[in-house]
Amino acid sequence: MNYELLEEAAQFISGRWPDARPTHGLILGSGWSEVVDSFEIKESLDYGEIPGLGKAGVVGHAGKLAWASSAGVETFIFQGRRHYYEGVGWTPIAIPIYILKKLGATTLILTNAAGGARDAMTPGDLMIIADHINNFGVNPLAGSHDPVWGPRFPDQSHVYDPGLREKLAEAGRKAGVPLTSGVYLASTGPTYETPAEVQAYKSWGADAVGMSTVPEAILANAAGLKVAGLSCITNLAAGISQVDLSHEEVTDTTQQTMPRMKKVLTAFWQELAHAG
Ligand code: HPA
Repeated sequence: MNYELLEEAAQFISGRWPDARPTHGLILGSGWSEVVDSFEIKESLDYGEIPGLGKAGVVGHAGKLAWASSAGVETFIFQGRRHYYEGVGWTPIAIPIYILKKLGATTLILTNAAGGARDAMTPGDLMIIADHINNFGVNPLAGSHDPVWGPRFPDQSHVYDPGLREKLAEAGRKAGVPLTSGVYLASTGPTYETPAEVQAYKSWGADAVGMSTVPEAILANAAGLKVAGLSCITNLAAGISQVDLSHEEVTDTTQQTMPRMKKVLTAFWQELAHAG
C-alpha cells in the first residue's frame, strides 16, 4: 500500500472541496452508477483527477466521485470501483476508504453484482451481505502496519454492522422490495468460477459469488467505519446457470433491477437520516 498516494488523494479532495463533511460513503459496483440519480449532487470529479485512483477500467463503471446527499445525509458516492484483477495493487482500492476516514465519515455502503450460488436464487434478487468469505488468497492489510487500519489483527466477527443490516431490511420493507440476506464469497477474478468451484463454495456456505467488496469491507471495518453491503444477483453462478456467463448479462440484469435498487437505497438513506 502506498501511504503517500493515499494521503495525497485525501488532501486533494480536502483542497478541492474544503466544505465537504461526508458522514457516509457509497461505492457502486458494476452497472450501479445510475443510482446517483436518486441523490442530490453538489459536485463531481473524474477518478482520473484524483491522485492514485486512476480510471475505472470496466464497462459499467463510471469512474466518478460525486459529493452528494439524500435525506440530508452527506455522502461521497464512488461511481465505479477499482478491482484487484486490474493488477493495480491495493492502493487504488484503498483510496476511497482512506478519503472517507480522513474526512470523518462513519459509515460505508458497498454494492456489487454477484452470481447466485444458493438454490432458489433468481437474477434480479437483492441480497443484504450478512458476512463474507475472503477467497482472494491475499489480504489488503498484509504488509507494513499503519494505525489508520486499527490493530494489527482486526477482529472479523461483525464486518457487516448488524444495525445497518437491520436498517437495510427495514428499507426493503418500506420500499416494498423483497430483500434476501446471505454470505458473499469473493475471488480475485477476472475469470468467473468453474461449476466445480461454485459447488465447493456452496459447501463452504457461500450464497453469492463475486470479485470485489471483500477488500473494501476489510479495510473499512479495520479503519473503524460501519459497513453495509448489498449485492444484485445478476446471474446464476456457473453450472447452475443454463447459459455461459457474460458481462453483458451482468449489466443487463443490473439495468432491469435499477428501479428497485434506487427505491431501496432511497429508503435506506431515509433510515440512515433517522439514525441521526
Ligand atoms: N461470478 C463472479 N462475479 C460475478 C458474477 C459471477 O457469477 N456475476 C457478477 N459478478
